[in-house]
Amino acid sequence: MAAATTQSPPYYTASNGRPVSNPVSSQRLGRNGPVLLQDFHLIDLLAHFDRERIPERVVHAKGSGAFGEFEVTDDVTDVTSADFLSQIGKKTPIAIRFSTVGGEKGSADTARDPRGFAIKFYTEEGNFDMVMNDTPVFFIRDGVKFPTLIHSQKRNPQTNLKDATSFWDFISGNQESAHQIMQLFSDRGTPASWRYMNAYSAHTFKFTKTDGTWCYMKLHFLADLKFKTLTNDEAMHLYKANPDWNTQDLFNAIDKSNYPSWTMYCQTLTPEQAQNFRWNIFDVTKVWPHSEVPLRCMGKMTLNRNPQNYFAEIEQIAFAPSHLVPGIEPSADPMLQARLFSYADSQRHRLGVNYQQLPVNKPLHVYAPWQRDGPSAINGNYGPAPNYQSSLQPVEYKPAAELIEHEEWVGKAMRNIWEATDEDFVQPGMLWKVLGKQPGQQDNFMYNVAVFLSGAVEDVRKRTYGMFRRVDEELGRRIEEETERRVEEPEKDEIVEGILKKLED
Ligand code: HEM
Repeated sequence: MAAATTQSPPYYTASNGRPVSNPVSSQRLGRNGPVLLQDFHLIDLLAHFDRERIPERVVHAKGSGAFGEFEVTDDVTDVTSADFLSQIGKKTPIAIRFSTVGGEKGSADTARDPRGFAIKFYTEEGNFDMVMNDTPVFFIRDGVKFPTLIHSQKRNPQTNLKDATSFWDFISGNQESAHQIMQLFSDRGTPASWRYMNAYSAHTFKFTKTDGTWCYMKLHFLADLKFKTLTNDEAMHLYKANPDWNTQDLFNAIDKSNYPSWTMYCQTLTPEQAQNFRWNIFDVTKVWPHSEVPLRCMGKMTLNRNPQNYFAEIEQIAFAPSHLVPGIEPSADPMLQARLFSYADSQRHRLGVNYQQLPVNKPLHVYAPWQRDGPSAINGNYGPAPNYQSSLQPVEYKPAAELIEHEEWVGKAMRNIWEATDEDFVQPGMLWKVLGKQPGQQDNFMYNVAVFLSGAVEDVRKRTYGMFRRVDEELGRRIEEETERRVEEPEKDEIVEGILKKLED
């Protein structure tokens, strides 16, 4: 095997290692003649530059990340056999990436948008990814609606502008999203920075044990710095003043050894409790109220290292809800089931089929020589090891690595249209009352909705008022008043007005 490429060579080379004596001028025919195709250095440099960009993530394109460790602080061996949770004091290295959802790679950090919060635990039994948001619920509960939801929040296909009408059109036509909207349009939708936000698995997963027992669970990561938010005006100010606010805040904090940390909790329900629970545990638009299912402390996660290279370690990191480890299994939540497919599929497109071999994605231990070849195989391709399961070199199977024989499902194949009912407005209504107990929060919610909703067409506005009335009659009425007032008298930005006037003159 050739020696690894040195990071700081003593002299300038082309990509094949050939020294280049004058890399600031191209080879030409005479003093003023055309450039020569034989100039490998020039062609090599330009051809590589032309291919520098890889597809950005289809969602969550803007983000930043760091590295650190997770430490178990409480015994949870009664509910899971996960190796990395098996002992108090056990530490696991982690990588994390925070993100916004709808904007492009260069978009501003303080947009009103859920925040992504994805953690990769490099455990002894494989990589465990917890791919979460900072909201405990989501807009929809069937993955088949995801592309449409996202398109309605991305740019209009004709104008290439963000579009208030399509946003609210989708929301008011899919009113199971009311709970997420209550989260997103309160000041919770603009957290102060990555360091001050919480994260939630949102979906139900399963904890399993090697003795065959299991339970349903949700995970929560609560910021030790405590959850802090921005008002809409503060967020808009930062949007212009420093679009990379969160990215800079995280990097600077870690650089100054001001390490952010989160405490990890779980909520658990036995299968019997889940059966009799008021809320459908496979519905990601619902929370499990803490008063009914208390939080149980598990451990602490600390970020203490910045990446050395953004592209290698953060852009190329690949999280997937399907990256689970023994002791943690997916539930039948239909959104989660769709996600189990979508992430690795996106990563095969974004990073190539061998994305798991990239240093930041590489598990501590892996033996899968049946996954061979393909573009950019960088792991030595398993040398002479058989590429099939050979009786001559048998590979051991670890017992009880997967425990999937828990649930028995019976039913006909069908499409289950899961329309919004009155039940879907109970938890949003509860949240509206919670906001009422925090000074100014209901007013902020009203303002945050009205500034955006006033940009939508009349039909969509009306349907949206109806949705808010189902949350709370008074809320619907006040949103309608505040929004229609803004439609009649749109707020004017003096600087923009001045520029328009200058252009007309
Ligand atoms: C069926 C619904 C969903 C689908 C199909 C979906 C699909 C995707 C895809 C394709 C990516 C890009 C992956 C990549 O290229 O690396 C992504 C990123 C992400 N998604 Fe989802 N998503 C869904 C719902 C959710 C939900 C409910 C959450 C949170 C609870 C979530 C959190 C995230 C996060 C945090 C990222 C960014 C991960 C990173 O930092 O690399 N998604 N999603």
